[in-house]
Amino acid sequence: MKKLKVAVIGVGNISYYHIINYVANPDTELVAFCDINPETLKRRGAEFGVTNLFEDYHEMFEKMPEIDLVSVCTWNNAHAPAAIAALNAGKHVLCEKPMAMNAQEAEEMRAAAKRSGKILQVGFVRRFGNDAAVIRDFSERGDLGELYYARASYVRRNGNPGGWFGNKALSGGGPLIDLGVHVIDLVRYLMGNPAPVSVYGATFRKLGNRKNIKTPRAYHATVTSKEDLCDVEDLATALIRFDNGAVLNVQAGFCLNLGKDETNIELFGTKGGVQLDPAFNLYTEMNDYLADVKLVGDTAFDFDGAFRGEIYSFVDAVLGRGPVRASADDGVALMKILDAIYASAETGKEIAIGL
Ligand SMILES: NC(=O)c1ccc[n+]([C@@H]2O[C@H](COP(=O)([O-])OP(=O)(O)OC[C@H]3O[C@@H](n4cnc5c(N)ncnc54)[C@H](O)[C@@H]3O)[C@@H](O)[C@H]2O)c1
Repeated sequence: MKKLKVAVIGVGNISYYHIINYVANPDTELVAFCDINPETLKRRGAEFGVTNLFEDYHEMFEKMPEIDLVSVCTWNNAHAPAAIAALNAGKHVLCEKPMAMNAQEAEEMRAAAKRSGKILQVGFVRRFGNDAAVIRDFSERGDLGELYYARASYVRRNGNPGGWFGNKALSGGGPLIDLGVHVIDLVRYLMGNPAPVSVYGATFRKLGNRKNIKTPRAYHATVTSKEDLCDVEDLATALIRFDNGAVLNVQAGFCLNLGKDETNIELFGTKGGVQLDPAFNLYTEMNDYLADVKLVGDTAFDFDGAFRGEIYSFVDAVLGRGPVRASADDGVALMKILDAIYASAETGKEIAIGL
């Protein structure tokens, strides 16, 4: 069978996990890279033997009509323009999270996908985690009962990565749009994708990027924008209400004066509760006793495996062998939640969401 020809736009950090899985997938071959940074472009090209290198994706689509599908791995500000250009050129698109800078851009991307008839998948990689698969299995069999409450935090003590992450014009926001997006989507996915109906949120800009702190920080952007500007929130918190009555309490932070970085995702149902991070735990009742269920085998989140699952599932969807498991509709719903949290933080009011 003829292999699908793949181009990657934005070949910095995360593109690596897309690239290695296109290399490994028997149905795809890498044919082109695009990046506005000529050094990054050259380095990635040499690393993977890709010689069609472009600094402008319009030129790439013009010169290489044979491209079938594209991964968009740029900074957030280029997700919508790059994905729309690719869809207009008749390519299938896998776009990294967050889908866009805001819901309006996300809706424009969804409209471009509809017009072109091509697939637009959003990079909600946690949907493809081994841990998510186990929880979906338990939940679909009814073992957790009705999932009605979840709490999730992704909060770092000193973890503003700097560079484009702190620059709102390139990122669209801080930890909410960078980290919160993962957990909000994951919880929504595990609950069966209920529609969001309203949010109440707050954001804070108190600590900035903590450049003054001498203790080394854990997170760095490897490719940085020229100015080390920080005009994004450093903490966001919100209550998100869904149409099935469920509520998610979420916190996402780059910087907070807490003892230790915190990752925690828990969902609670009428028959059982489950924790995904930092460890996998299942809490239930058996014969009128409280019981913790220990699964045999490795249930810790497998980052590499999730990326492999995401890319392979995208390729399968393009080949008509399976569904799109993180759709443009899911991406739009997520961007509406994020927009509403920022709006609630600004107004101090609960914000209704219409899908
Ligand atoms: N799924 C995940 O777990 C995960 C993890 C990290 C980052 N991400 C997402 O991946 C994206 C990239 O993040 P990163 O950490 O790799 O950043 P990065 O800075 O390492 O790489 C981004 C690359 O995009 C290039 N670029 C920017 N605008 C461009 C344009 N218009 N055309 C072509 N190239 C352009 C930059 O020059 C850079 O090389 C972000 O949207 C981020 O949210 C996802």
